[in-house]
Amino acid sequence: MTSPAHVAIIMDGNGRWAKARGLPRLAGHRAGVEALRNTVRAAPGLGISFLTVYAFSSENWSRPKSEVSDLMGLLKIFIRRDLAELHQNGVRVRIIGDRAGLQPDIRSLLEEAETLTVRNDALTLVIAFNYGGRDEIVRTARKLAAAVARGELDSEAITAESFAGSLDTQGIPDPELVIRTSGELRLSNFLLWQAAYSELVFLPCFWPDFSREHLADALRDFAGRERRFGGLGAEDVPVTAKG
Ligand code: IPE
Ligand code: IPE
Ligand code: MG
Repeated sequence: MTSPAHVAIIMDGNGRWAKARGLPRLAGHRAGVEALRNTVRAAPGLGISFLTVYAFSSENWSRPKSEVSDLMGLLKIFIRRDLAELHQNGVRVRIIGDRAGLQPDIRSLLEEAETLTVRNDALTLVIAFNYGGRDEIVRTARKLAAAVARGELDSEAITAESFAGSLDTQGIPDPELVIRTSGELRLSNFLLWQAAYSELVFLPCFWPDFSREHLADALRDFAGRERRFGGLGAEDVPVTAKG
């Protein structure tokens, strides 16, 4: 079975997981960090080279202040506690999203993680934080427009490939598979450009319950899919055209 090189996960359902146990939402987010840790440990053994996780969306600022600050705090704790193990295991950390909107202490922590791990190649862990697909596309368009205005870029030279190369995900292949937990059937502004042809797997389990087995099952599901990219299925190609 060929594994997708890049799996992206919408880690959803922490709040409902906690509610079902009569716990505060923060307990769900804490349990979610543990599920993330386990998923990162399992990914290389399942043939995954890039793992992107949606940790905080550009719309999550609309949550109560206390929850936003809990989520910022958990990111800091995760980086501080786990960076050494990630580095030891050859994990490269990359961050996508709008850093300008984050507090300076978080920004420098994220930069520290990226710099320390830049040469690692066992797995690239891409953390989408203060990330929104539309925001990423708009920031990219603005960057290219500024280069055109300065006379450094010919607008005719902007192609889908060059545009992709200017997104936060530059150098990262598109995810072949996007997984969302918690039963919600939507993308919620995740990787809008990059997921154009991704296979989607929606799981009913809440994120804190996500395990290596769920990931392995999703990969099996993916392996049974036929990806057509707008062309014809293998069955439908006329014999003469198969060459
Ligand atoms: C996902 O869990 C984590 C983040 C969005 C940060 P939620 O907090 O969205 O949990 P539910 O969807 O309310 O259960
Ligand atoms: C998506 O989950 C964002 C993250 C998992 C970080 P949300 O819980 O914010 O999405 P909606 O509001 O249900 O669409
Ligand atoms: Mg949610």
